[in-house]
Amino acid sequence: MHRIRIRGCRPLSGEISIGGAKNAALPLMAAALLTEERLILSNVPQLADIHTMATLLAQHGITVERVARDRRMLALGGAITNPEAPYDIVRKMRASVLVLGPLLARLGQARVSLPGGCAIGTRPVDLHLKGLEQLGAQITLEGGYIQATAPCRLTGAKIVLPFASVGATENILMAACLAKGRTVLANAAREPEIADLAACLNKMGALIGGIGTDRLTIDGVARLHGAEHETIPDRIETGTYAVAAAISGGAIRLRCARLDHLGSVVRILREAGVEIIEDGGGVTVRRLDGLHGVDVMTEPYPGFPTDMQAQFMALMSVAEGAAMVTETIFENRFMHVPELNRMGARINVHGASAIVRGVATLSGAPVMATDLRASVSLVLAGLAAKGETVVNRVYHLDRGYEALESKLAACGAAIERLV
Ligand code: EPZ
Repeated sequence: MHRIRIRGCRPLSGEISIGGAKNAALPLMAAALLTEERLILSNVPQLADIHTMATLLAQHGITVERVARDRRMLALGGAITNPEAPYDIVRKMRASVLVLGPLLARLGQARVSLPGGCAIGTRPVDLHLKGLEQLGAQITLEGGYIQATAPCRLTGAKIVLPFASVGATENILMAACLAKGRTVLANAAREPEIADLAACLNKMGALIGGIGTDRLTIDGVARLHGAEHETIPDRIETGTYAVAAAISGGAIRLRCARLDHLGSVVRILREAGVEIIEDGGGVTVRRLDGLHGVDVMTEPYPGFPTDMQAQFMALMSVAEGAAMVTETIFENRFMHVPELNRMGARINVHGASAIVRGVATLSGAPVMATDLRASVSLVLAGLAAKGETVVNRVYHLDRGYEALESKLAACGAAIERLV
């Protein structure tokens, strides 16, 4: 099994190119099910999760090809031949459930394996199902599968989400595009990935209003057509490398990064003593004199993202003073804490909050984590630690960070993959 070895305590300096957002590209790919014409997506990162979505779509009958002249461009198209998303693929990647809304809207039927829990929480899909039921779908759960039908086309409805779920917003949004009449989706999630999906759907002929707000209006159309769309840059990859600059005491320019997508991450990092300056084509991040403890609470966008919580905790573990980090989105997202503590961090968890008392230095150790962001937080801690850190279970990192080692190594990190 692959591992990553880091020899820490080197300030990073240089430039990193930010790739397309994984969490934008996955729903954009699922949107290909909404039309028989070709959807061309550019700036798609080369990641394990993207490959899994391509495999899922292929078994529905949609061909997904990397365009030879630009490996970041995907051409998707074809007739749907199979309405079933099997357990073997869905269990590998929960975002597979995003095919449910499009399949149902297009075919009037879908059979999608229930995703089940994962390392960071139970993660039910009840809000996806209730929303689709409000659009007229009949849904039963049988043998671990969601069995959904809508023989007479979905019908627009007023839907109020009790919680601004990203995935539920995306599934309902895609389904409503082909429903009869108007759908109003209130308390919708406002993450930039949702605005990106809505922008692409509108290019495909959908009529979506309120993009970027928590109230989306969707006037259903009979059919959607092909389109070309460029995926937004990955705001979590941006935030992660911003922390890499700060924790190592260096300065990195993040090419193609968009500050306007970072929400409260910018304010929090600045409060912690990190300089962040936007220029024409990117953002430069530099640690100023010292780092200070800052309290954060994860919230839906534009609040502090749960997907940056572990990385921020690694940063706080070497800041002066204390920081309270509260996780409100997932119930089990502190799996990195015992591993950071093994590297010398002083973190205590009390329910949904962790108190991080900063230490002068961390020390390298063999570590491992059970999800993507927890794993990358250990890489970040390794950059600041004395001695050698070996991060195990690297396949989590490969799901969400393209060329992590070479991007960091190009900025002077002593990091390599051991195979
Ligand atoms: C998306 O997951 C992201 N994944 C996650 O990225 C991210 O952590 C999360 O949004 C929150 O920002 C993709 O975009 C592919 P949610 P999603 O539905 O859609 C509860 C990463 O590291 N909930 O907003 O699954 C749920 O259990 C990751 O890249 C229900 O109770 O997130 C959770 O506690 C992992 N019922 C909370 O809402 C539902 O029907 C937020 O989930 C749906 C969600």
